[in-house]
Amino acid sequence: MEVIIAADGASVGRIVAGAIAAVVRRKPRALLGLATGSTILPVYDALEEQVREKKLGLEQCRFCLLDEYVGLPMRHPQSYWSFIQREVIDRFRLSSEAVIYPDATSTDLPLACENFEREIRDAKGVDLQLLGLGRDGHIGFNEPCSSLASRTRIKTLTAQTRTDNARFFPRLADVPHHVITQGIGTILEARHLILIAIGSAKADTVRLTVEGPVSSFIPASALQLHPHATVVLDEAAASKLSLGQYFRDAYALKPRRQGI
Ligand code: GLP
Repeated sequence: MEVIIAADGASVGRIVAGAIAAVVRRKPRALLGLATGSTILPVYDALEEQVREKKLGLEQCRFCLLDEYVGLPMRHPQSYWSFIQREVIDRFRLSSEAVIYPDATSTDLPLACENFEREIRDAKGVDLQLLGLGRDGHIGFNEPCSSLASRTRIKTLTAQTRTDNARFFPRLADVPHHVITQGIGTILEARHLILIAIGSAKADTVRLTVEGPVSSFIPASALQLHPHATVVLDEAAASKLSLGQYFRDAYALKPRRQGI
């Protein structure tokens, strides 16, 4: 995979927004796989800049969620549907109809998972999937030991993930235990994967993801199996990579028009 090391979060945001813009210019009706969490916010900020400067229009795109909490009403402020509504749909004045999401409020969750997979397939697959990184190595909500071939399904969160995400809820007890997440096999079908990590708290997990063996214990390491996976890091998140300088040099030498 290609590893890009940028100076800070804002630069990470600009690089990733540039890659999104390139996909949308090539394919205005692209299906963009969106991520949630704090890491992705500089990307949406940089996208907003591009849209404001009229370098990019997202009106024809469709969007797809990666995962969702089970047990929260759809319009709960911390549901991922609400997050995407706030940070993407409202912000760019798009239609909620453009969003494909798993219905985690369904009384038949396995069927909701199947329907979600079918909707992605009917839309001809995800063109570009954005991914954050959990400190335990999760992508989406594929916790350690998730099958590398897994499809969209219900998962139980680890104590570490619930603690990490508790900052968004009034109390730890309010963080749901269960979620629906695209499987690793589902994620690997997207045409391009961009994993983003910012900050030193992710540095050990980044090292295991990029330089460790492919292992279901670090689900993000499955990106090593994808023909077009890009990891975009700030200096702090890249600080434990033994090949850091190699990645910096390779990116500096790369012709800019090649994109990422
Ligand atoms: C959550 C989400 C992931 C996200 C991860 C990282 O658990 N399910 O999709 O990538 O957290 O979050 P943050 O960017 O806030 O560190």
